[in-house]
Amino acid sequence: MTTKHVLITGGAGFIGCNAARYFGQRNWQVTVLDNLSRAGTESNLAWLRDEAEFELARIDVRDTGAVDRVISEKKPDAVIHLAAQVAVTTSVTDPRMDFDVNALGTFNLLDAVRRHRPEAVFLFASTNKVYGKITGASSELRGNRYAYTNRPHGIPESEPLDFLSPYGCSKGAADQYVLDFARIYGIPAAAFRQSCIYGPRQFGIEDQGWVAWFAIATLLQKNITIYGDGKQVRDVLHVDDLVRAYEAAIRSPDEIRGQAFNIGGGTAQTLSLLELVDLLEQHFKRKIPLKFDQWRPGDQEVYVSDVRKLDKILGWKPQIDAKSGVGKLIEWVEANRDAF
Ligand SMILES: NC(=O)c1ccc[n+]([C@@H]2O[C@H](COP(=O)([O-])OP(=O)(O)OC[C@H]3O[C@@H](n4cnc5c(N)ncnc54)[C@H](O)[C@@H]3O)[C@@H](O)[C@H]2O)c1
Repeated sequence: MTTKHVLITGGAGFIGCNAARYFGQRNWQVTVLDNLSRAGTESNLAWLRDEAEFELARIDVRDTGAVDRVISEKKPDAVIHLAAQVAVTTSVTDPRMDFDVNALGTFNLLDAVRRHRPEAVFLFASTNKVYGKITGASSELRGNRYAYTNRPHGIPESEPLDFLSPYGCSKGAADQYVLDFARIYGIPAAAFRQSCIYGPRQFGIEDQGWVAWFAIATLLQKNITIYGDGKQVRDVLHVDDLVRAYEAAIRSPDEIRGQAFNIGGGTAQTLSLLELVDLLEQHFKRKIPLKFDQWRPGDQEVYVSDVRKLDKILGWKPQIDAKSGVGKLIEWVEANRDAF
């Protein structure tokens, strides 16, 4: 095993600080690259300082020169690229900023890796939004939750791409660049098309990070609005399981080069919105008042990732079940009331 130095962009964010701790505690040299634009990043860094050693590079991924310098100076063995504009709603109000951060920012990193460190494993946090509406999949209400009628294993990587929303376009463009830089330049790069990731240190807001948002809103007794009937189903993956998949990928550069992987809880770990509300009500021992509103454009009745490719290639499966994972998230939310 020769990989020693991992550079994590967006390393002060939710997934990033969990990844930085994971690798730091396993004696990797860790560089966290972040512009600290997201609320909660200072708190994440303060926590991370007690957990693991790392170096902070306060850099904006839109800054081509700074990105180029940090890659040429650090020459990391692996880059986990998480820095992003993450909210679909923000991408609609400010599509240029969204493009600059997500598409151009990813291009800046890839091009720096191509020139200074083409042997580095490059993992990109892509999104299930690259599949858009998934018009080929149909669903029906079964009891209290929607289910696919023709995708028994969930959505595979072979599903047609259909970028929807500026966020879908900017992440989708980046996803395609990542795969193409693997093809054209031989970089061991892969796109992880993530569905809903949840866990401690997720400063969820209504527009992004719904599992954490429901827990935070419940604790703070804020209103929760459900768009649709609440029976919509999502696969959910605990961040610790995701980070294990990143490590497995970094250890298998030849297997993952040029590959896209759908990653989420898969068919085994799913929750409907109302099922999450139930879990929270059981924990907090009170009824949560809900407001129901119209479905939003593009909302799906179901999204579940088919995670069998990751299992086949890397022997990876989710291990943390949704109920205990949500329990860990609630513990963190309760212990950090003042941070919200
Ligand atoms: N959390 C999920 O459920 C989920 C699902 C699919 C994809 N993703 C992707 O995973 C990645 C990480 O998501 P997260 O939930 O940890 O989000 P997050 O907002 O907690 O983390 C993103 C980090 O990127 C930093 N950042 C933003 N703009 C930057 C810029 N211009 N330059 C440098 N740093 C910048 C922020 O300060 C933040 O620390 C993102 O790329 C996101 O699109 C997340």
